[in-house]
Amino acid sequence: MFSDPRDIAAAAVGRIGAALDAADAMPTLGVATGSSPRTVYELLRTKHQDGEAALTQVAAVALDEYRGLPADAPQRYRAVLREALVGPEHTGLRDVDLHVPDADAVDPVTAASRFEATIASLGGVDLQLLGLGENGHIGFNEPGTPFTERTHLVRLEDSTRHANSRFFDGDIERVPEYAMTQGLATILEAREIVLIAVGEEKATAVQAMVEGPVTTDCPASILQDHPQVTVLLDEDAASNLEMRSASSV
Ligand code: F6R
Repeated sequence: MFSDPRDIAAAAVGRIGAALDAADAMPTLGVATGSSPRTVYELLRTKHQDGEAALTQVAAVALDEYRGLPADAPQRYRAVLREALVGPEHTGLRDVDLHVPDADAVDPVTAASRFEATIASLGGVDLQLLGLGENGHIGFNEPGTPFTERTHLVRLEDSTRHANSRFFDGDIERVPEYAMTQGLATILEAREIVLIAVGEEKATAVQAMVEGPVTTDCPASILQDHPQVTVLLDEDAASNLEMRSASSV
């Protein structure tokens, strides 16, 4: 648990560096969007500018993508990730090495299988960064999603659309109803996972994820079954935890 968000970013970047260094071939980083990883990407950019680290020899796979946004919408996760990571002026990640689910495909089932095949061809994900939904979702796997699910099209819950409306000028009607997401089984195959949750609106989900039963009611609770997970929290997000007396969870 951290009181300074910069320490969360530093801890995440430390794990990312170690995981990418340990990878045998070209490493693969699983990237999330939303607010939680922003400071991590900022720090990766700073480090790249300082010549300390680069994603030039790294492949990145996105967790998810909205379906039905205009091609040039800045909220498209491909656009967000490009803006955050791609190019020598950011982290050195090459655009061809950024892989995002083709959520707008006419045949989403085939597109989802193609995305799974892409991950497999990259040798799997070395480290997957995750945020946490207020309802316990990871990726866009909403409560009730079977743990066995792989990449698939989902209908977003109204609560998720409401939470994400802040990226759409507060207008929930503009938030797509559908998205394509890596499934829970896909996410669980990452060799290492780093989840970031900040703010008291995440406190209930954090408690259910860490201390509750493993249940599809809280999709993130399946992370309890993964051997290599780091959960990085600020004090507000950790505020419901019984184990709160520990300095790091
Ligand atoms: C984003 C994603 C979502 C977010 C979650 C938390 O790619 O898959 O699971 O990580 O909704 O969002 P923020 O970080 O904006 O609170």
